[in-house]
Amino acid sequence: MARSFGKVILLGEHAVVYGVPAIAAGIERGASAVARRAAHPSVRFAGAKLPSAIAPELGEALVALLDRLGAPPFEVELTLEVPAGAGLGASAALGVASARAVLDALGAPQDAARVLEAAAAWERVFHGNPSGIDAAAAVRGGCFVFTRARGVEPLRLGAPVPLVLAVAGPPARTSEMVASVAALRARRPELVERALSEIGELVAAARERLEAGDLVALGRLIDENHTWLATLEVSTPAIEHACATARAAGALGAKLTGSGGGGSVLAVAPEPEPVVAALVGQGFEAFTAVVRPEAEARP
Ligand code: MEV
Repeated sequence: MARSFGKVILLGEHAVVYGVPAIAAGIERGASAVARRAAHPSVRFAGAKLPSAIAPELGEALVALLDRLGAPPFEVELTLEVPAGAGLGASAALGVASARAVLDALGAPQDAARVLEAAAAWERVFHGNPSGIDAAAAVRGGCFVFTRARGVEPLRLGAPVPLVLAVAGPPARTSEMVASVAALRARRPELVERALSEIGELVAAARERLEAGDLVALGRLIDENHTWLATLEVSTPAIEHACATARAAGALGAKLTGSGGGGSVLAVAPEPEPVVAALVGQGFEAFTAVVRPEAEARP
């Protein structure tokens, strides 16, 4: 069985689309896939119904992936461990696991660049113009700085980062949220440029704090990043409520993660239990995840 990581963006989503660096990480919950030769390409979900947020395009995505790999038709059986459409990299995780499963079934080497290319073809079906950050996290895990121009730069974590993740609302489509920021930028260019530049500063500071293992300072930077995401109009009342609940229960910082408009919230929480309990008490699905150095990360 082939596996992949889910992803969280610690800081810098949306700004990354405009060339600003973002900090992302793989989380253990991701996806797995098994591929079998078949007469026609098809996708099945093991033991669960297709996640509606991504179901319509899955078949088309598989065809694009197989095409990119130069592979014959396969049936791919998928398992997904993160909620779909929740900003946790579900579609990229499924694409990476599928590419790995097909390469396994072909007896071909697991070449990371080839997996990334195939996952990018898969992702384009869902997201139009993805930055590539989700697929990079799904492939490598660990924690890294990502720019569209330079791709991945590994980040040396001073300490593991304990997170609580909460699903705050109905699934949002990344492509629509990216388009809504583009529309805001067309209407209010100065505001959006200021947000992009401030987010860039926060990412640079957070990189240093992650390397130093300073979770308290990281939490403050994450809170500030969230404020700028709200300025970009990608937060929602449910996201604000989840962030406030996590902070009140002891989280060092909380923000939306991914594209927003629904989706997930991440909280930095060295003591995760009370944060999970408070979020669940408010009706949110919540779980823990730890961002680990790449060498220790296992999907
Ligand atoms: C989505 O997880 C992150 C965004 O920055 C879009 C992208 O980078 O492709 C909103």
